[in-house]
Amino acid sequence: MIEEPLLPEYDEQVERIEIQLLLEAVFRRYGYDFRNYAYPSIRRRIWYRTTMERLATISMLQDRVLHDREAFDRLLTDLVIPVTEMFRDPAMFRWLRERVVPELQHLPFVRAWHAGCASGEEAFSTAILLHEEGMLDRSRLYATDISQTALRRAREGVLPRDRVDLYERNYREAGGSGDFAAYCDTFHGTKRLKASFAERIVFAEHNLVTDRSFNEFHLIFCRNVMIYFNPELRERVHQLLYESLADGGFLILGGKETVAFTKFSARYETWNDEYRIYRKVR
Ligand SMILES: C[S@@+](CC[C@H](N)C(=O)[O-])C[C@H]1O[C@@H](n2cnc3c(N)ncnc32)[C@H](O)[C@@H]1O
Repeated sequence: MIEEPLLPEYDEQVERIEIQLLLEAVFRRYGYDFRNYAYPSIRRRIWYRTTMERLATISMLQDRVLHDREAFDRLLTDLVIPVTEMFRDPAMFRWLRERVVPELQHLPFVRAWHAGCASGEEAFSTAILLHEEGMLDRSRLYATDISQTALRRAREGVLPRDRVDLYERNYREAGGSGDFAAYCDTFHGTKRLKASFAERIVFAEHNLVTDRSFNEFHLIFCRNVMIYFNPELRERVHQLLYESLADGGFLILGGKETVAFTKFSARYETWNDEYRIYRKVR
């Protein structure tokens, strides 16, 4: 977890110019587009990296990341915030199990997309849930992120040792009645999601800002990703998600996200306002 840096006294106008130039440089050099991420959060993260690199100005950070790929990778790790957990917001997963999954039971094949999957725990949770509802063997989950580091961890499927108890508790609160431990193999003292679950999940790099739709889905999870985007970028990503959703498909956002105030609000039925579950109008 990134601690708040102590931001130095700085000329606000100069700071804005430097941040814009840094993000432009990152985009032109490496193709990652953070130019429309929410400013206060991106500013804190840039200062954190500047301080960690023991640099005095953001311009110096720009110089370093342009010439040093490893320095850029460190900045990228700070910018993406890959925080996640299994069955995060368990009550939402319970509702999904009880009220959304029955709506998909008639489908011959179910495609789900976890956009911004971080290290994969959200997709692992859905795979377990679909298995328990008898649907995993006719489902394919696509889990995508811009962070290669996060995707590497997701592909390994290892659950952080210190989080297994929390995940087990979340699983129960999410309506799980099986044996959570039975879904994992123990490998050198660590727990790893069983291959029979992992093989239903395709992990791939996909950037919501610069890449296009790549399939049509019945379920799209895009949780706790757009909170870091500015309104203009959010609107663009909503367009992509809308185009990627089958008629009657479900969009699931994070607890602080909504389709309200976007041009798509009338094209969804709100299925659960509290859990941010929306259904594309047929
Ligand atoms: C806070 S995590 C959310 C993880 C998971 N969805 C959850 O709610 O637990 C945000 C994730 O979004 C990813 N992300 C940020 N910008 C992205 C983009 N433009 N395209 C795809 N993923 C992005 C980050 O790399 C990070 O892993």
